[in-house]
Amino acid sequence: SEKPAQYKVRDLSLAEAGRHQIRLAEHEMPGLMALRAEYAESQPLRGARVAGSLHMTVQTAVLIETLTALGAEVRWASCNIFSTQDEAAAAVVVGPNGTVEEPAGVPVFAWKGESLEEYWECTEQILVWPGEGPNLILDDGGDATMLVHDGKRFEAAGVVPDNLEPGDHGYSEEGVVFRNLLRRSLAEDPQRWTRIAEGIKGVSEETTTGVHRLYQLAAAGELLFPAINVNDSVTKSKFDNRYGIRHSLPDGINRATDILIGGKVAVVVGYGDVGKGAAESLRGQGARVIVTEIDPICALQAAMDGYQVARLEDTLSVADFFITTTGNVSVITADHLSGMKDKAVVGNIGHFDNEIDIAGMASIPGVVRTEIKPQVHEWTFPATDDRPEHSIIVLSEGRLLNLGNATGHPSFVMSNSFTNQVMAQVELWEADSEYELGVHRLPKILDEKVARLHLEALGVDLTELTKEQAEYIDVDVAGPYKPEHYRY
Ligand code: NAI
Repeated sequence: SEKPAQYKVRDLSLAEAGRHQIRLAEHEMPGLMALRAEYAESQPLRGARVAGSLHMTVQTAVLIETLTALGAEVRWASCNIFSTQDEAAAAVVVGPNGTVEEPAGVPVFAWKGESLEEYWECTEQILVWPGEGPNLILDDGGDATMLVHDGKRFEAAGVVPDNLEPGDHGYSEEGVVFRNLLRRSLAEDPQRWTRIAEGIKGVSEETTTGVHRLYQLAAAGELLFPAINVNDSVTKSKFDNRYGIRHSLPDGINRATDILIGGKVAVVVGYGDVGKGAAESLRGQGARVIVTEIDPICALQAAMDGYQVARLEDTLSVADFFITTTGNVSVITADHLSGMKDKAVVGNIGHFDNEIDIAGMASIPGVVRTEIKPQVHEWTFPATDDRPEHSIIVLSEGRLLNLGNATGHPSFVMSNSFTNQVMAQVELWEADSEYELGVHRLPKILDEKVARLHLEALGVDLTELTKEQAEYIDVDVAGPYKPEHYRY
């Protein structure tokens, strides 16, 4: 009875522009291109049906076409309402060998500026296939995985409770949308998610926040299929989260505001992998950077790296930029927002928009929101006894600004992340239920392989261990070179 749509993107005529960008990106993604060459003949993903939920960018297009080059069938949605590059989405639908009139690529359901209803409908579309359902999920942030889990849970209960929120936390506007989708689905087909869940052999998860959700599901005994934590491959989180952010954070700020960063005061909330890249990039632009942290180890790291470490409350009247990088909820409250310096720029680069309490700010009496341009809004606070009228600039409505205001991380760093993703998909598919229910990481030897695939392009000459040296430090000449507990 299910008749899934073929695709839904902004405008297929953008495909040619997208194809040119994809072609250039391929040159910058040696890891993915090496996997295409390695697996051209053996087709390890033959028979795999991959449901992908990950920012639909040019780099993701190269990932998708690598999965299909290895034999997979794929359906794709973005994992954020603002992150799609419409030309990339169009090019993937048309495919390298198709035409606008006769698309021959992969069904994509994504465009820049989706509503929340559209966002969840797109996520539903990647999971509803013609014939049999998907057998693998490739996720970023865990929304597709969560839809399957919550769908199955509420099919079993036969009812969707009023207080159900996506992931059972945060953003209530989205909760209404999510509940409506599950209720409609339950009415249409009370077994859909149970069936889909049964067909899935595993999920590979891209980001810190999605991995966090997976460990929570596993701890609660609710995880329905094995998961590979791609984020914690060293060649993912220590590269994408850090060096990717170092590139794409200033890109987002510049495209959104064109306000000079040099000489200004910038607050980076959180000093994990993303925070480290964020702080470095802002310092590189000449900002005086202040870091806030709750973890004494990360706070000490920030101090030793030369940053002032302070509490957010004490920076409100001096800072010109506030960037959240925590993956945590309500780290900037409505009181913080209304207390900031006039025309301060506020943005989040963590996965979800619940880091900054935009809804709380919207409910302050007399506050006015003005659209400067899409994904850039000025919020004006009315005069009070203590303070004249003033305003702040909010980027991407509190959603990750590097993908909302710019085009996310550049290809070379994403090649590292996505090479891990493809290896994880191959692992899950070839292992065919050998993985225990739980959250796994790729073996270190594969992590080292990902790095190796990216050395030549940078002109890196790696030193080889002698046999004597290898024995002395008790490793194999071919690796792995470090014990599991090593932190890089
Ligand atoms: P992480 O766990 O390494 O770092 C987060 C840091 O925030 C931790 O050091 C933690 O102690 C700190 N923190 C938590 N609550 C805090 C609070 N109230 N105040 C100050 N500091 C606080 O995580 P990672 O890998 O840096 O990721 C952070 C977020 O960024 C996640 O949501 C992740 O999914 C997302 N992400 C976004 C990317 C993008 O392109 N925009 C790329 C990669 C990750």
